[in-house]
Amino acid sequence: MTSSSNPTSTTPPKTLIPQEKLQARITEIAHQIERDYAHCDQLSCIGVLKGSVFFMVDLLKQIDLPLVVDFFQTSSYGGKKVPGEVRILKDIDLSVRDRDVLLIEDIVDTGHTLQTVLSLLRFRGARSVKLCALLDKTSQREVDIPIHYLGFPIDNVFVVGYGLDYDERYRNLPYIGAIE
Ligand code: IMP
Ligand code: MG
Repeated sequence: MTSSSNPTSTTPPKTLIPQEKLQARITEIAHQIERDYAHCDQLSCIGVLKGSVFFMVDLLKQIDLPLVVDFFQTSSYGGKKVPGEVRILKDIDLSVRDRDVLLIEDIVDTGHTLQTVLSLLRFRGARSVKLCALLDKTSQREVDIPIHYLGFPIDNVFVVGYGLDYDERYRNLPYIGAIE
């Protein structure tokens, strides 16, 4: 095997949030959501691809409520440097009109992605929209996004694992790691 000059290809990401801590917090959030939506006839759980998938699966398996699942996929023009330029690559299939929506995201960074998605859901007549995010890089925020259910606030480090990628890699790590 040849060694690579790219350190991220050989060095495993440093653990920032271990697997047990992630799972314990996700169980707490699931219980909280279950209590808050106890009287909801059907909760629309909408994930943002691809990063939120691992989190969403572990979370929803612990929520004993009538719910449906759907996905957006988004991307930003010019690597997120231009505020507001978020593209919807894949739209949701289900209608959210008069529905209670729980939007599920891996990480809130500048907030532009979620601002776009949240305003679209409201425009389409959702009865309520709440946001559940695993990670929050508060210091990077450019637009105000209320997070109703948060896993962990983190510092401004680039994180991977548990769905989050660096150039599409590392999504399958069972923990959240930091890349220098
Ligand atoms: P925002 O629009 O700036 O809030 O960007 C949010 C999106 O950027 C997330 O859904 C992630 O896909 C990506 N992102 C932001 N920070 C990180 C990170 O540290 N690691 C991996 N992806 C990230
Ligand atoms: Mg994302």
